[in-house]
Amino acid sequence: MTANELRSKYIEFFKLNEHAQIQGKSLLPDNDPTVLFTTAGMHPLVPYILGQEHPSGKKLVDYQKCIRTGDIDSVGDPSHLTFFEMLGNWSLGDYFKEGAIRMSWEFLTSPEWLGIPPEKIGVTVFKGDETAPRDEESARVWRELGVPEERISYRPRSDNWWGPAGVTGPCGPDSEMFYDFGKESCGPDCAPGCSCGKWLEIWNDVFMQYNKRADGDYEPLARTCVDTGMGIERTITVLNGEKSVYDTEIFAPIISAIERASGCTYGASMEKDRSIRIIADHIRASTFILGDPKAVTPSNVGAGYVLRRLIRRAVRHGKKLGIQGVLLAPIAEAIIEGLRGPYPELEENRVFLIEELNKEEKKFSETLHKGEKEFEKILPNLLKNPQKIMSGRLAFKLYDTYGFPIELTAELAAEAGLTVNREEFDEAFKKHQELSRAQSGEVFKGGLIDHSETAAKYHTATHLLHRALRIVLGDHVAQKGSNITMDRMRFDFSHEKAMTPAEVADVEAIVNKQIQRDLPVTMEVMSLDAAKTSGAIALFGEKYDSYVKVYIMGDFSKEVCGGPHVEHTGVLGKFHIQKEQSSSAGVRRIRAVLE
Ligand code: ALA
Repeated sequence: MTANELRSKYIEFFKLNEHAQIQGKSLLPDNDPTVLFTTAGMHPLVPYILGQEHPSGKKLVDYQKCIRTGDIDSVGDPSHLTFFEMLGNWSLGDYFKEGAIRMSWEFLTSPEWLGIPPEKIGVTVFKGDETAPRDEESARVWRELGVPEERISYRPRSDNWWGPAGVTGPCGPDSEMFYDFGKESCGPDCAPGCSCGKWLEIWNDVFMQYNKRADGDYEPLARTCVDTGMGIERTITVLNGEKSVYDTEIFAPIISAIERASGCTYGASMEKDRSIRIIADHIRASTFILGDPKAVTPSNVGAGYVLRRLIRRAVRHGKKLGIQGVLLAPIAEAIIEGLRGPYPELEENRVFLIEELNKEEKKFSETLHKGEKEFEKILPNLLKNPQKIMSGRLAFKLYDTYGFPIELTAELAAEAGLTVNREEFDEAFKKHQELSRAQSGEVFKGGLIDHSETAAKYHTATHLLHRALRIVLGDHVAQKGSNITMDRMRFDFSHEKAMTPAEVADVEAIVNKQIQRDLPVTMEVMSLDAAKTSGAIALFGEKYDSYVKVYIMGDFSKEVCGGPHVEHTGVLGKFHIQKEQSSSAGVRRIRAVLE
């Protein structure tokens, strides 16, 4: 079966079961500071799981492009990918455990659909803990369907619980379906869910039952929901009896393109195979990031940094295979060719994405050569270190002089049997930032990793200041503007006259008190109406979606905002108002810093 056939069959099966097909969404989530990429089909559906009516109804089906960067170091093994496609079906207050499991089973085992032999399937269910009971209901349904006891494995929260996607939100126990490759059990405890290589997870049915609240408690959802995810690449692996996701027809044209460029043959050497797999995966992910309607370009911050890392790592593995000249573009072309049907955006953005890949590849190839030479030069000295540790200062030098991402240096070092002193690297990195800021004497543009944290602190401070001003001056105070740089914040608000020194001191003291209280900062998605009724501050005249994020800082502040924010006010340090002055008629301006 091909991936295209699997996608169509899945959609068809659930349509026959009265689900409405919805569009998968962007890989770059809307305004969500908690994740860089869409990591599962449920992300875009969170507001609906929380209770909003979906315009397409209560039963939905789709396919969604996903990226998970947590698995980046496992890429190259038989089953891990950074980019993958997820098939999903949802019940928003309609069927629950029994309905979901019965449909999963039928789709997996019925000869009319996937026709996987029932004896090749094992399942896991939630074992239960202090917050939620053992999931006997799911186990019962599996038993009734004929799954024998020894292939129903009860597992803890770390394995069989999904969500919330952010700090708060919908979550619940899940039941996962595994394919048994038929290998010997690794021991008496080997059961579905064991990571020895016998079992491969292909589908997950999540039973959204709770809303994790800001105070850490779990409250039952108003209506229970189902969220499922089936990995296309893994399922195709299993259906076609392949050894790994990279051996499927999905990757065949991509791997052929790499073979053509390198002259290497896939399957001939374990080490080279690993490089080929890494290139294939990373360029697939990069092609989808750049081909997204909300594409980011390679940079040193956030999703752009992940993209840069993926491209640069692929280029380096290309060089390891001996590829001279342009590597990425022909591989990206093969990827677009294979997936432009279900993802027409790849074709639409072809010119842009190829150009960006070429640009980044060229930039990096130039520095890579110099950097690797430098590394080789220092290597004999490094190897003399009895602890086999590479100093963070040296790693920083490679970053600073040759544009080597730290992860790449760590990989080069690991290949030589060394570990990098990360603490020292981080320290050198921070110093460098402070220095550049001092030297430039202006806003430091360019965004290195740490910047997002500083920005988040100032965002959080803005909410505290807004609320403190209302307490001291009155409820007529409304935000008129705000501007954050890495060195300070500026806040404009409606107020007719200059603040007195005592008022300034009061506001400053109130903000600092909230910092000392180390209030938890949490986020909840709610309807705009619910947000307003709950007393959250929303900016008048601002255009909001009907569902919004509300940031809550303990009992002190509640404000509609896209984020990002820190997790606890305690990390802000000391808040200091430098200046209070007029901005325009009826509007005052405060300039403040975190020290
Ligand atoms: N959200 C669930 C997962 O990604 C289905 O596994």
